[in-house]
Amino acid sequence: MCGIVGILGRHEASPILVEALKRLEYRGYDSAGLATVNDGHLERRRAVGKLVNLSDLLVREPLAGKAGIGHTRWATHGAPNLANTHPHRAGPVAVVHNGIIENYRELRAELTELGTGHSTDTDTETVALLAQHYLEAGHPPREAAMRTIARLEGAYALLFLFDGEPDLLIAARKGSPLAVGHGDGEMFVGSDAIALAPLTERITYLEEGDCAIIARDSVEIVDENGNIANREMRRIEIDPAQIDKGGHRHFMAKEIAEQPTVISDALRHYLTEDGRDVVLPGTGVDFAGIDRMVLVACGTAYYACLTAKYWFEQLAGLPVDVDIASEFRYRHPPIPDRTAALFVSQSGETADTLAALRYASGRADSLLSVVNVPESSIARESDVALPILAGAEIGVASTKAFTCQLTVLLLMALRAGRDRGKLDAEALADRLSALRGLPAILNRVLARDSEFREAARALAEAGNALYLGRGLMYPLALEGALKMKEISYIHAEAYASGELKHGPIALIDKTMPVIVMAPCDALFGKTVSNMQEVMARGGRVLLITDAEGAQQQDDGVWRQVILPQVDPALTPILYALPAQLLAYHTAVAKGTDVDQPRNLAKSVTVE
Ligand code: F6R
Repeated sequence: MCGIVGILGRHEASPILVEALKRLEYRGYDSAGLATVNDGHLERRRAVGKLVNLSDLLVREPLAGKAGIGHTRWATHGAPNLANTHPHRAGPVAVVHNGIIENYRELRAELTELGTGHSTDTDTETVALLAQHYLEAGHPPREAAMRTIARLEGAYALLFLFDGEPDLLIAARKGSPLAVGHGDGEMFVGSDAIALAPLTERITYLEEGDCAIIARDSVEIVDENGNIANREMRRIEIDPAQIDKGGHRHFMAKEIAEQPTVISDALRHYLTEDGRDVVLPGTGVDFAGIDRMVLVACGTAYYACLTAKYWFEQLAGLPVDVDIASEFRYRHPPIPDRTAALFVSQSGETADTLAALRYASGRADSLLSVVNVPESSIARESDVALPILAGAEIGVASTKAFTCQLTVLLLMALRAGRDRGKLDAEALADRLSALRGLPAILNRVLARDSEFREAARALAEAGNALYLGRGLMYPLALEGALKMKEISYIHAEAYASGELKHGPIALIDKTMPVIVMAPCDALFGKTVSNMQEVMARGGRVLLITDAEGAQQQDDGVWRQVILPQVDPALTPILYALPAQLLAYHTAVAKGTDVDQPRNLAKSVTVE
């Protein structure tokens, strides 16, 4: 979603702003722009498309000034054209915004009545026009911004820059994250710590409803009630290696390759020194004291939750409901007593997941979260936040965050099994021992990259693809299809294998590749029957299985990928790799924008 940066600096702001916006590219965007105050005057440059277009424009038409704001826009209101590109300017004020102003139509009507016209389709322009209105009514910039903010409904991170005010930025947060960075005699603002990473490590996160009045050497934060607020300044160290491609062609390739390492990190964090038990930090989680869990998330994180349902139910005898956050939050489901609610989110800022957590607050016995960003809103509003320790994930398509989410969820399910008397100490230690061996196995699979590239070359010709799986492989099939469609734009769907005959089999013909994920487990024979039904109708089956599965079924399949045999509970983490690699190589073969697929945003901070 939109990226925001701001600087009151000691050097020319434009190049620093563009670099900071580059670090936010991963969030997804379709146009970009800057505004600065130079010699007391506001000026701006904007360009549609990638940041390189803005950089080229700045070569032709430089933008001087040491105070400035910048924005990458992911269109919500209005097409991604120049008029709608931020910053939006109304006379003496420029504004950048992430989020949605829900009452902009009412505000716009009010301004129209006062004779103020609009020149864009955006909700953000209304914010700039409203601020201009208050400035023209004689309010100083700070007061004008505060009055404007007080009129807004919806979700926003906002940054204001004013004509004649080279030492003032005003930032506001409600629903979309914003961080203030402290330099020496300079100040920065960014949508996240990654944007500010090389500029400063000293970061203050604004809280919901906060407004920050920023000068070059100070910041005053006012909370939603208008009181001065003391917000903690933290040191956020981001390893620069995490935000470059480290020799890989794409961030996604780098992040796929990092999985054995980050999963090992997560295991080290959660296992006792002897590796025989799981320690959940914070106040701990009382699995013996609950009767059920509800797991809520969006997208890939939702598929991690679906996988965890099998684990919690099978390993711990704990009933689990899984819900899509955008459905959960508006369905107002009853939450019975002795229920723990668990929210899974890489970014920790997904608007629907955060709203679902707020709904469950006060209703569920405890609010747990599994997040990658420990300073995120979801982490901060949970009773217990378990980090997945995947490191910064820049590729829009989630890969290492997914397998780290799975790792932490499996550890939770194992711990729950122990707490609820379903697993004895020996059985737990055996499972953990298998899990500790998994990163080495993942490395062996990653070394076979060319096999996946080869299979993907054939998949790239397809217009549609079907993924099938049973049991723990069903959520994996869903994740495989999601990865395929989001980065290769091939229409891919996933079904539980047993559902095939209830409709989707009508789609099968010889042009349809069917990716079947089936380790040789208790359900293998059933999946093979479904596969036969596909092959009998001319469908081309790509079977992902293990050596035993391959031995039992090698007739008539189009292609096979043979993975190492592992403890059945670990198969989702292992089978995630072929799902990711097939999608990645298919996208590369098709020449799509792997790290920033069209229309997608990394952190979905609006509904
Ligand atoms: C797909 C993907 C998305 C996210 C979803 C939730 O590859 O990345 O489906 O999983 O937008 O995002 P988080 O986990 O940040 O809540």
